[in-house]
Amino acid sequence: MSGTAPLKRLYIKTYGCQMNVYDSERMADVLAPLGYGVTDSPEGADLVVLNTCHIREKATEKVYSELGQIKMLKREKQAAGGGTMTIAVAGCVAQAEGEEILRRQPAVDLVVGPQSYHQLPELIARAHRARGERLAADFAADEKFDALTAERRPTGVSAFLTVQEGCDKFCTFCVVPYTRGAEWSRPAEAIEAEARSLAGQGVREVTLLGQNVNAYAGEGGLAGLVRRLARIEGLDRIRYTTSHPRDMDEALIAAHAEVPELMPYLHLPVQSGSDRILKAMNRAHTAESYRRLIEKIRAARPDIAISGDFIVGFPGERDADFEATLQLIRDVGYASAFSFKYSRRPGTPASALPGQVAEEVKDERLTRLLALLEAQQQAFNERQAGRVLPVLFEKPGRHPGQIIGRSPYLQAVHATAPDRLIGQIVPVRIESAARNSLAGVLDLETA
Ligand code: 5AD
Ligand code: SF4
Repeated sequence: MSGTAPLKRLYIKTYGCQMNVYDSERMADVLAPLGYGVTDSPEGADLVVLNTCHIREKATEKVYSELGQIKMLKREKQAAGGGTMTIAVAGCVAQAEGEEILRRQPAVDLVVGPQSYHQLPELIARAHRARGERLAADFAADEKFDALTAERRPTGVSAFLTVQEGCDKFCTFCVVPYTRGAEWSRPAEAIEAEARSLAGQGVREVTLLGQNVNAYAGEGGLAGLVRRLARIEGLDRIRYTTSHPRDMDEALIAAHAEVPELMPYLHLPVQSGSDRILKAMNRAHTAESYRRLIEKIRAARPDIAISGDFIVGFPGERDADFEATLQLIRDVGYASAFSFKYSRRPGTPASALPGQVAEEVKDERLTRLLALLEAQQQAFNERQAGRVLPVLFEKPGRHPGQIIGRSPYLQAVHATAPDRLIGQIVPVRIESAARNSLAGVLDLETA
C-alpha cells in the first residue's frame, strides 16, 4: 500500500433502474482514488450519496423521507465529534428538482445530475469549502463517459455496462426524456474496451444497459455490438435491457437465433393491450403489432423468456381497455413482469389529460393484473422442472453449503454446491420451482 490518506467511508443508496446501479458503481470508482471506500450503512459515513429515481411520484417522496433520516445521522456524527457527513443527491430527482432539493432539505450539500458524475471529486471538494454548491446538469453524455476514466472494479461475475442513455420516444406518461435527455450511444470501441477489461477481471456476463438499449446507434447497431462482444474471450453471457418494441429490428432478432452468448430473455415493455390507450400513450405500436413481433422473436428463439412493463389506470382507461391488457398478457405469456399504477408526473402530457382514474379502480386493476402475471411466472418456472439448465453461479446462498446463480432465463437458481463453483457455468438439474426461484442439483452426468 502506498497511500497514507485515511479511508473515508462512502455510503451510496441506489433507487430505480439498473442504469442507476451502474452509475452508482461508477461513482464509487471515481471516488476511490480520493480515499473513499464503500460501506453498507450510512451511520458515521463521511459521504452519503442518494442515487435517485424520478419515474413515479412515490420514488421522489421516498427520497425526501430518506433525506430526513440521514439528516439525523449527520447531526449525530457531528455531535459525537466524528466530523462532517457530506450529503449528495444524484440521479433523476437531482436532475428534475435541482435547487428545490436544497431548499426542502437544508442538510443536503450537493445536487448532481446523471451527466455530471465525473465531476464528483471536484464538486465534493467545493462543497467542503462552501455549502450549496451544485451543478447545472446539462453536460453532454459523451463528455461524461470520456471523463469517467477510472478503471472499473467489478464486484461479481455479472456486471452492467451502459451503452446508451436517454430517450426520444416521449411516451406521454414518462419523465425519462426530460430527466435523461436525448438518445445518445457510446462508441462501440469504448464499450468493447470496457467489456474486455471486465472479462479480464473475471466477469462472465454483461448486461448492456440503456433506456432504449435496442435503439443503440453505434456501429452495427445493437445486433452488431452483441456479435462483437460475443467474441471476447471469457465473456459467455450477454443480456440487454430495456427495449422498445419499435426498435426491435430484424438484425437483433436474427442475433437471438444465431448468437449463443445472447441469453434467451427479453424485456420488452408493452404498457397496455388497448390500442386506444397505446395511442394516447404515444407508444407507436398497437397490441396486434406487438403480438406479431413476439411471434417473430419466438420463431427465431423458441424458448425465449419474455418480460414486460404494464401500467394500469392511464387517464381514460376503461374496463374494456383493461380487459384488452389482460387478453394480451394471456396471448403472450410472460415469464416475469413489472406492473405499475399510473402515476401523474408534472410536466408530462398525460398529467394534463382528462379522465384521471380513481385510486380504488387502479388498485383493483393492479391486483387482477398481478394475479395473472404471477400465475404466468409460476407456470414458466414450473416448466423448468426436470430440465438441465446451465447456471452461472454468482454468490453463496442464505443456507450453508448453498450457492445461487442465474439460469439463461434470468431465474435465480439455488443448489447445494461448493463455493469454488462461483463464477462458473454449471449444468443444474431443476427439481422444484417457486414463484421467484428454482432449486436444483448439480448434473454430474453432463458436467
Ligand atoms: N406511471 C406509472 N408507471 C410509469 N412508468 C414510467 N412512467 C410511469 C408513470 N408515470 C413505468 C413504465 C416503464 C417503467 C420503467 O416504469 O411501465 O416501462
Ligand atoms: Fe419513458 Fe417511453 Fe422512453 Fe421508456 S420509451 S423511457 S417509457 S418515454
